[in-house]
Amino acid sequence: MTHDHENDARARPALDFQEHLKRLDAAGLLVRVDRPVNKDTELHPLVRWQFIGGIPEAERRAFLFTNVVDSKGKTYDIPVALGALSASPQIYAAGLARPVEEIGDAWNEAIANPLPPVMVENAMCQEVVETGDDLKKPGHGLARLPVPISTPGFDAAPYLTATLCVTKDPETGARNTGMYRAALKATDRIAVRMVARPGGAGGWVHWLKYRERKEPMPIAIAIGAATPIVFASPQKLATDLDEFAVAGALAGQPVELVKCKTVPLEVPARAEIVIEGWIEPDVLEPEAPFGESNGYVALEAFNMPMRVTAITHRKNPVFNAIISQVTPSESSVIKKVAYEPLYLRHLKSTLGVKGVLRVVMHEPLTNLRPVIFVQFKYGTPQTEVWRALHGCSAFVAGQGKFCVAVSDDVDPSSVDAVLWSIAYRSNPLQDALMMPFRRGVQGAQYGSGQSDSSLLIDATRKSLMPPLALPAREYMEGARKLWDELGLPALKTPSPWHGYTLGKWSDTWERFAQRAVKGDWEANGLETLARQRSGLEAETSVTKVEG
Ligand SMILES: Cc1cc2nc3c(=O)[nH]c(=O)nc-3n(C[C@H](O)[C@H](O)[C@H](O)COP(=O)(O)O)c2cc1C
Repeated sequence: MTHDHENDARARPALDFQEHLKRLDAAGLLVRVDRPVNKDTELHPLVRWQFIGGIPEAERRAFLFTNVVDSKGKTYDIPVALGALSASPQIYAAGLARPVEEIGDAWNEAIANPLPPVMVENAMCQEVVETGDDLKKPGHGLARLPVPISTPGFDAAPYLTATLCVTKDPETGARNTGMYRAALKATDRIAVRMVARPGGAGGWVHWLKYRERKEPMPIAIAIGAATPIVFASPQKLATDLDEFAVAGALAGQPVELVKCKTVPLEVPARAEIVIEGWIEPDVLEPEAPFGESNGYVALEAFNMPMRVTAITHRKNPVFNAIISQVTPSESSVIKKVAYEPLYLRHLKSTLGVKGVLRVVMHEPLTNLRPVIFVQFKYGTPQTEVWRALHGCSAFVAGQGKFCVAVSDDVDPSSVDAVLWSIAYRSNPLQDALMMPFRRGVQGAQYGSGQSDSSLLIDATRKSLMPPLALPAREYMEGARKLWDELGLPALKTPSPWHGYTLGKWSDTWERFAQRAVKGDWEANGLETLARQRSGLEAETSVTKVEG
């Protein structure tokens, strides 16, 4: 093997979830907790603190709990990983073996060049198999898994969260994978919640077809698989695109699949744990309350009970959970890094919008979907800006309720900067548009059939403006060095942090400023003395008078 090939191999994503955890550990991105931690009351709240406790995003860590107990005093021999998929973009990027800046390219390349999966006979995920009546014995089946409670105090059950739910279209055989929450109900029964509306979960679309045929739907839920496979599950992909093929392209090698033991489906051979079973076509069961990613508790609704027929796993599996609910969370990071490149691609390539530079989905508390900021090159025609605003608001149902366009000097990842732009660069009567006929927020708690609307705002800079009144970059940089030398408290770098010109700036004003910083202000005074006039009102613009 040549040196280059070795480098290639190292640059590939890990082949299984435990290898990914090892890499996170080696990169200093994993915290191991060996003391007993209660999965029902302590585990999620502990990791929640790193999302709400003011820690910078890049300092968030994955957690591995090796000594998991529950409220009944039971000790589990399976560790739990939380935050290991996407506590931060850095952790997600480690899962793709790429730098953060290349995540968007990785997705766009993989979607364009899917790599079909291959079948294998013997699989790690089936080293241990439990089926039939064994699943019903007390402490067996699902009770063997250390499934944590996500929102203690509100959730009605421990939930499987980092799920890879595999189903098949009974007519075409096309496969779908989705990340759907699933509540533990009995040692051999869970309730799966799939979004049930046009554009909803792929698994729900399949279930409708089984219902039509009056046949039960086979389903397999993998927990803990190679990160590209898990990342492809919540990604918004075309329905006819096999997520395993996109995952193979992300991984740089085909995903290995194995036939399930008790259902006619295939699952990732290197998964940690697989739950196999059937969903009846005509019976639903109350599921939830469960803290949802929109930041509220989803209330009870009738969803799909799954009769578990097998639990298979590798010899020493790790259980993977994901932390969702109020954003930022693992669930908002996993979507943000993957959805933003898709929006940009949609605007640039599908709609052919000129001048669009960046799309940012707002994350803290709002949960990504409702608020979207789009950045444009200064001078982009207003018609293009509006095509993009409409495009953002229409691209995905339920996303882009508030869309705001800004210019290239405004950082769309800073809400303060966007509000600054709205405040000074938009005239609401001319630059804002309200549109009816948006679908209301989905969920049992909101009722059905509610309609909503959208607000689009063009807050781009439409004309020349005077410079931003912060000291110019070189002076702020020099002063920063001085600040550090003086040992003053550590600084963050907000945006904007230095002044810059915005078009309305003359040679005279530039000359004045340069003289002033050299201490030659009296020369400026001599010049303006020669320009004194009488007969004018105070505050008359010099440009108006002198041209
Ligand atoms: C943490 C997390 C939890 C999710 N939970 C659900 C869920 O319970 N039900 C659902 O339908 N979608 C859920 N989603 C969204 C789907 O995974 C996502 O829409 C995905 O595109 C669905 O794939 P599909 O369109 O192939 O069904 C969740 C996403 C994440 C990241």
